[in-house]
Amino acid sequence: MSDNIKIAPSLLSADFLNFEQEIIRLEKAGADLIHLDIMDGHFVPNLTFGNPLIKAIKQRTHLPLDVHLMVSNPENYLDFLINQKIDYVSFHQEIAIHIHRSLVHLRDNGVKAGLALNPATSVELIFPVLEYLDFVLIMSVNPGFGGQKFLPIALDKIKILKNAIKDRNLTVEIEVDGGINSQTAALLREAGADILVAGSYVFTSEDIAGRINSLRKS
Ligand code: DX5
Ligand code: ZN
Repeated sequence: MSDNIKIAPSLLSADFLNFEQEIIRLEKAGADLIHLDIMDGHFVPNLTFGNPLIKAIKQRTHLPLDVHLMVSNPENYLDFLINQKIDYVSFHQEIAIHIHRSLVHLRDNGVKAGLALNPATSVELIFPVLEYLDFVLIMSVNPGFGGQKFLPIALDKIKILKNAIKDRNLTVEIEVDGGINSQTAALLREAGADILVAGSYVFTSEDIAGRINSLRKS
């Protein structure tokens, strides 16, 4: 169980016409990271936002940014994110071709490198590159939309991954994304997650600090 779990609210569920105010609310509420969902309408059937908005958000906040690329050609996005000094970047195992090269490229340029896994993707698939990862993003919903129901399939993956990380004496954070609320957060903390992403749960309350705190301890 992680003692210092990090909470990464996703702006996907924020008010898109008031991102600046939403970021200020997250800072005041004690968020550890801001999670940005980049969707291209191809890898996932939805579109969000791209580079200009990522740049504007980076300039506006002191919180670390966590960019989750749900795009078909993640390699094409990396240099921009490196130049913006984005803190965490993950792309999907299912769509990336040159995974090792991309991970090394991110790391060599000071960005925490992560691989994201859809619910149906076996966690063992990433074992060959485990030592090149700073974090793994385990999806607990199918990517593309906020507000979906948590899939418990994520819990077994965390346990398998946790053991593999320990066996190899590595430091790899485990992030989980999708359907996280105070109940599912308790299961994820118990399983050993290090970072919890939450969109709709955080933003459907006026008391976002209360929601964030309930994900740390419930
Ligand atoms: C889904 C995104 C998530 C999304 C989570 O494709 O990757 O980050 O914002 O939303 P909730 O917490 O509402 O499931
Ligand atoms: Zn996400």
